[in-house]
Amino acid sequence: MTTAKLIVGNWKMNGLMTDSRERTQKLATAANSHKATEFQMVVCPPATMVDIVAAALKGSEIKWGGQDCHSQQSGAFTGDISAEMLKDLGCSYVIVGHSERRQHHRETSVMVAAKAKAAHAAGLTAIICVGELDHERTAGQANRIVSEQLKASIPDTATPQNTVIAYEPIWAIGTGKTASSEDIRQMHALIRSQVGALPILYGGSVKAANAAEILHIPNVDGVLVGGASLKADEFLAIAQASQ
Ligand code: 13P
Repeated sequence: MTTAKLIVGNWKMNGLMTDSRERTQKLATAANSHKATEFQMVVCPPATMVDIVAAALKGSEIKWGGQDCHSQQSGAFTGDISAEMLKDLGCSYVIVGHSERRQHHRETSVMVAAKAKAAHAAGLTAIICVGELDHERTAGQANRIVSEQLKASIPDTATPQNTVIAYEPIWAIGTGKTASSEDIRQMHALIRSQVGALPILYGGSVKAANAAEILHIPNVDGVLVGGASLKADEFLAIAQASQ
């Protein structure tokens, strides 16, 4: 229910120094050349690239964020990164509960809620991801699954200022298959009825060619983009589709 659409790029585990810097500089230059009141762009690179992305984006209209954070502020958690550390690098956002974390790292909704709470405590906006598997949709379980994930993944510290929901049907991620406009409309209406004023993003094979249609569906406040966010021109075209 924000007026400016939120266009978030999740680079996942992609990006080395040279290509990350080039891509981000291209985005910053393009963003500075026109005043964007219709959209807010956010780039979420791998943790190793946050500093480089931050340097390229400082002073631009584009914000940046992390792809995950730990639920604790600091301590003996080898390999993990805290929300406070991301904040320290100038991040405004952090993605939590992405389906790839839920699947490959066995993160539960209870863990996701703890991460979101840590993000809030650090002053970050948490992008909480939910979404059903292919066979769950086929079995008519999509609404129940998403509803349960929402209930357990959103902490009591959530407000429309510090929390964004991202609906990403798992079968649409990286597959080139997007949910139909009608499926998105129905699911976003259901999510809206549950989360009130929290902004809601759609994610799953969003690209320049389908962005305008998706961004104009009721209760779609923006998009979470994977593969297509790795090409600066494509990501910019997605953002411009909000206009
Ligand atoms: P794709 O856009 O590559 O389908 O990925 C979506 C996603 O998982 C964003 O978080």
